[in-house]
Amino acid sequence: MRSLIKHILRHTEPAADLQVAGWVRTRRDSKAFSFLELNDGSCLGNLQIIADAGIPGYDEIVRMTTGASIEAHGKLIHSPAAGQQWELQATSIKLIGEAPDDYPLQKKGHSAEFLRTIAHLRPRTNLYGAVFRTRSRMAYAIHRFFQERDFCYVHTPIITASDCEGAGEMFRVTTLPDDQIAQETRDFFGKRTYLTVSGQLEGETFACALSNIYTFGPTFRAENSNTSRHAAEFWMIEPEVAFCDLTGDMDLAETLVKFLVREMLDHHDGDLAIFGKFVDKGLHERLEFVASRPFERIPYTQAVELLKASGAEFAYPVAYGLNLQSEHERWLTEEYFKKPVTVFNYPIEIKPFYMRRNDDDLTVTAMDVLVPGIGEIIGGSQREERLDVLMANFAKHGLDAEAYNWYVDLRRYGSVPHAGFGLGFERLLMFLTGMANIRDVIPFARTPGHCEF
Ligand code: 4AD
Repeated sequence: MRSLIKHILRHTEPAADLQVAGWVRTRRDSKAFSFLELNDGSCLGNLQIIADAGIPGYDEIVRMTTGASIEAHGKLIHSPAAGQQWELQATSIKLIGEAPDDYPLQKKGHSAEFLRTIAHLRPRTNLYGAVFRTRSRMAYAIHRFFQERDFCYVHTPIITASDCEGAGEMFRVTTLPDDQIAQETRDFFGKRTYLTVSGQLEGETFACALSNIYTFGPTFRAENSNTSRHAAEFWMIEPEVAFCDLTGDMDLAETLVKFLVREMLDHHDGDLAIFGKFVDKGLHERLEFVASRPFERIPYTQAVELLKASGAEFAYPVAYGLNLQSEHERWLTEEYFKKPVTVFNYPIEIKPFYMRRNDDDLTVTAMDVLVPGIGEIIGGSQREERLDVLMANFAKHGLDAEAYNWYVDLRRYGSVPHAGFGLGFERLLMFLTGMANIRDVIPFARTPGHCEF
């Protein structure tokens, strides 16, 4: 059976009769033999294959060019070459699929922009292979974190009739023909429906029954923010915990981020090195720093005061009642505290209806976790569990309480204090890899004006 190169490179002893398959990175020929560097995507490393002229399949060697797929059988032997422990002395070699001269990944050092135009081929590069293996490992680590702590994984719906954030940035889902688009009652679901912006509201219903839950799935936002940190389709991790307050929520968020950073440092299969080398030289040091120190926690009011007194030139104004912009978040984390910062207790006016009102009547129990290099990666809150206050919030935000009737029922029957947050999976990956653009940590990114592949 075929062995993955990842496993072969971990061998501790020579082996006979191995079978490998992958894509040729480079080939060098001499009179009596050829060297092929083979990569199968299972890890960063390549396996060097030595194919002596005359072995079965060698007559096709000239077609085994960069990008071609091949299979080889042979013996694993110690390599005399520097920088590699093993090489495969082939006993036979076979061309599976050739890659003609127009194979786009011939040369090294393509720009991120160019590689986005060939997103179907970019996982074959060293850097993007590492990015997407990291994405997979981190998804697994997230499930492990919650499963080991007895959180129940809830699959919240992707099609929904309610706007969780109350911000109206939703993609509509409809089967109505163009000329009947306004006739909502005749639509597939008999009402207006959308792609979800967050699984939180449905998640809350399960937390108010199963205590500790999390969701982890795709979310969609039709916000026209063409920034390096916004995508129209992204994945969110949303834990929700019953009998929990804002402090418990901030503690959980910090523990989760630290766990994932530690996971990245300890289980990267060599991929971390490439991020440190080609993307962000200070990455390793920064991750170690984040994993080992407490995050700063400050109220929003204090954050605004610090920013106002900073003397820094910001493009966006800083004032109480305005949202913090990415440049403000980055100043707090990179310039001032030099570590992640959790900002909490935001003004009521700039946060959604579901956040719990504080006794000052001016702020809500919101919290955002900000990290160096990215800004906000987590947004969360303690939820408003008091029926009368929640109803007043709907009115204040101009929302129809009737549409949220099922959500309101949670406050009618056995209401409990509860809290949760959303961690943007792609923002987390940017933080862990140093990749500067969200499009480069998503296999096939969807952003305003772009829905290729
Ligand atoms: O702060 P947000 O909007 O919070 C919510 O959706 C809550 N319902 C979560 C909850 O309490 N259960 O989004 C949470 C996180 C952000 O901090 C950010 O990391 C990510 O989701 N995010 C985006 N990531 C990529 N592209 C976008 N357009 C994003 N919008 C939010």
